[in-house]
Amino acid sequence: MKRILPNGSLRAKLVVQLLVVAAVLAVLLYFTVRTTADRAAEATQDAILGAATTSIAEQLRATEDGIEVDLAYATFSMLGAIGQDRLFYRIDIGGETVTGYDDLPLPAVQPASLAAAFYTAPYLDAELRIAVVARSMIVGKGPVPVVVLVGQTRLGQAAIADSLANRAALIGLGFFLLAVPLSLLSAGSLFNPINRLAEAVGRRGPRDLRPVRHPSPRELAPLIGALNGFVARLRGALSQTETFIAEAAHHIRTPLSTVRTEAEIALRQSNDEGTRVRLRSMIRGVEASARSASQLLDHAMVLYRSDQLESVAVDLASVAHSVARAFEPTAELKELVLSVVGEGPLMTTGDPLLVESALRNLVDNAIKYSEAETEVRIVLSRAEGMAVVQVYDQGRGLQGVPVVQLTGRFTRGQNVGDVVGSGLGLTIVTEVAAALGGRFELTQIETGGTCASLFLPAL
Ligand SMILES: Nc1ncnc2c1ncn2[C@@H]1O[C@H](COP(=O)(O)OP(=O)(O)OP(=O)(O)O)[C@@H](O)[C@H]1O
Ligand SMILES: [Mg+2]
Repeated sequence: MKRILPNGSLRAKLVVQLLVVAAVLAVLLYFTVRTTADRAAEATQDAILGAATTSIAEQLRATEDGIEVDLAYATFSMLGAIGQDRLFYRIDIGGETVTGYDDLPLPAVQPASLAAAFYTAPYLDAELRIAVVARSMIVGKGPVPVVVLVGQTRLGQAAIADSLANRAALIGLGFFLLAVPLSLLSAGSLFNPINRLAEAVGRRGPRDLRPVRHPSPRELAPLIGALNGFVARLRGALSQTETFIAEAAHHIRTPLSTVRTEAEIALRQSNDEGTRVRLRSMIRGVEASARSASQLLDHAMVLYRSDQLESVAVDLASVAHSVARAFEPTAELKELVLSVVGEGPLMTTGDPLLVESALRNLVDNAIKYSEAETEVRIVLSRAEGMAVVQVYDQGRGLQGVPVVQLTGRFTRGQNVGDVVGSGLGLTIVTEVAAALGGRFELTQIETGGTCASLFLPAL
């Protein structure tokens, strides 16, 4: 049987698709965690920085000589709680820096209230997150604008965000690794119904042509529908073939035998030698056609039945006896002694019609290619676990023609002389032997004649 080469694998495709989805999800998870963690850390730190700046601004007190700045330690310790970030501050009163770093960058737009505003600016060798608070204070004659800036490096925040991101990357990787066996498992279970359907169809016997009714998922309905359509067409074609073989046999043989009978009557009545020669060749032609038609149909029947092999117990002895009985009249015409040697039953399994057809062809050859008044023996025996039927004759023998050549379709030996035949008999025998798990041998007997042996598995 020719193997169908698979064109890709649905299972592999599905697994790859599931893994791609898992990988995309893992990457999305990583970036979401990373940006959320960044934002959360920044918002928390901004709140602390803003509170500290506002608190410094609130602690400024106006005195008679000016403004008193009191930088409480608690304010800076609150800011120093996270990592080793550096802090810078600047207090401007009336546009002049009174304390802190006077080059700390000012915001683009000055805030107008005590609520802190935030911005990021480069300072020295680092990026600073700066909170700015503005207020005005009454000093001496009138209001004076006061701006308080507090800047902080964000190395601590970056470290926290990095460690969170690493953890997110690990979770993403773990998620992806878990997705590998899970997608393999789910892809496998998805194909279970298809495998079960294939098993159910595969388990069927060769003659089981009922529609497939195996419970399957909705998605398989089109496949099952197509399969059932195919089975129905096959059933129709097979029953047509069976009817054709039976009808053809009848419709071809009957008119041919009528022609033959008429020709024989004409031959008997004719005195003209020319007409008699023509009638004789006509009878031979009709005989050859009848033989060909009957062998062709027999061959078709053998092929058809081998395809859907029936397996019942068959007694080779009783088949041999019935074939011998059927050939009795033919053997008598040639004055041949036709006998069956060996005790039955000799059991094998298979289709009785196939066994009978093979044996019929062997006995037919033995009688056809034998001289008159000789003997044809059908010998039953057992050897090496096989049931053996051998047909011996004392005829002309194979005359050196190799057996492989004789078993081909429509091939006949040079030893046939004027014996009518179509060259299909041994083809049928070898096909039956192969279908039933046996073998066929044809040998020349030294003392003259042929031995045809059919080996079939013994039951
Ligand atoms: N018992 C035999 N003795 C001698 N030759 C044989 C014998 N059996 C078969 N052969 C040779 O093998 C050839 C093939 O046999 P096969 O039965 O296939 O064809 P056939 O007898 O010529 O035609 P048919 O299809 O009508 O049987 C024969 O033509 C003949 O040459
Ligand atoms: Mg033959």
